[in-house]
Amino acid sequence: MVDRSTGLAGRRIVVGISGGIAAYKSPELVRRLREHGAEVRVVMTESATAFISPLTLQAVSGHRVHRQLLDEQAEAAMGHIELARWADQVVIAPASAGLIARLAAGLADDLLTTLVLATEARIWLAPAMNRVMWANPAVADNCRRLASREVTLLGPASGSQACGEEGPGRMIEPDRIVKALLDVVRPGPLTGRRFLVTAGPTFEDLDPVRFIGNRSSGRMGFAVAGALADAGASVCLVAGPVQLDTPPGVERVDVRSAGEMLEAVLARIDPCHGFVAVAAVADYRPVEPARHKIKKSGQPLTLSLEPCPDILATVAALPEPPFVVGFAAETHDLESYARGKLERKRLDLIAANRVGDGSGFECEHNALEVYSRDCHWSLQPQSKTTLAHALVEIIAQQMQQREESTP
Ligand code: C5P
Repeated sequence: MVDRSTGLAGRRIVVGISGGIAAYKSPELVRRLREHGAEVRVVMTESATAFISPLTLQAVSGHRVHRQLLDEQAEAAMGHIELARWADQVVIAPASAGLIARLAAGLADDLLTTLVLATEARIWLAPAMNRVMWANPAVADNCRRLASREVTLLGPASGSQACGEEGPGRMIEPDRIVKALLDVVRPGPLTGRRFLVTAGPTFEDLDPVRFIGNRSSGRMGFAVAGALADAGASVCLVAGPVQLDTPPGVERVDVRSAGEMLEAVLARIDPCHGFVAVAAVADYRPVEPARHKIKKSGQPLTLSLEPCPDILATVAALPEPPFVVGFAAETHDLESYARGKLERKRLDLIAANRVGDGSGFECEHNALEVYSRDCHWSLQPQSKTTLAHALVEIIAQQMQQREESTP
């Protein structure tokens, strides 16, 4: 049973395993983290694989184990830098004396050490070694150096050791590691919530080679999906045709047309608490796309278009709609158009931006005016990533208010 109420729900955790007999406890750690709703990827050093099979870790984590820095296949799936960016916590258990030394020296001589250098995530180490090694001043020095770089050491515990000796050096138990993380990693404002986000343009085919599209880059929608995930939500992003990397921790479904986008949204909306429609969905589409390339004839051509389904309005009109957020791109009369859409489409929030004067589409920066039925927030021009985080704060706060006021 997965408990999605704690701070670990939706967190992205890399579990690093180095060579030591305590590696037999690592699968248990992965299992415990997943029971709290964390997503786990495992990185093993070469010597770790002598103690425990990567297949075991693959089975308990549900993902292929990452082992080598220069593995073309693994790099193509999720490269080391991507993995370093993906993680919000890196827990190395067991951390051998050798690994601790390499980390203290700042080496990047295998996948795990390179990932530690390349990540901004918090790093946790659970040392495990023979008691004499643990007492060695060289190890103590290395641990002090790591602690001064804000690496958190967990343990070691004292007790009987694999080598037959007794003393400090045992890796602490997986549930104590999990408890240490739970004490620090607080739930985000949207922990335990599911969101669906649409982003990008839609392409409506005229014939096999031509389509009606628009200039939406998808950046704002992708930034919103990423910010929702950072706030602890589990996020599914339904993306129109764009060339963008999926934000860490977000599940992505690619679609092309408004019809496909509607279908993908309706198939996934049911367990969602929130829906954010950022996509620039086409307003009209050809009544029937031509089966063969339309030939030029030198004569004027009339295209017969029909309105596309309104995905946002469809979701807002469901019998039990989620919290619904729309976007509006306007060239003028921003407030009255935005408020009109809020009422007409029965939205909880609308985020409006001015387009056409070099802002909005196809650029990194944006500004938003956000309206609910009785409030207004002005979010000043800033990067789409920062803006998305500010918008997500408003969403979280308004959702909470709505829940508190619903009997
Ligand atoms: O009515 P307008 O297209 O300006 O509304 C914009 C908002 O509605 C955006 O949130 C957009 O994602 C959503 N929308 C939609 N389906 C459509 C048209 C717009 O979901 N067919």
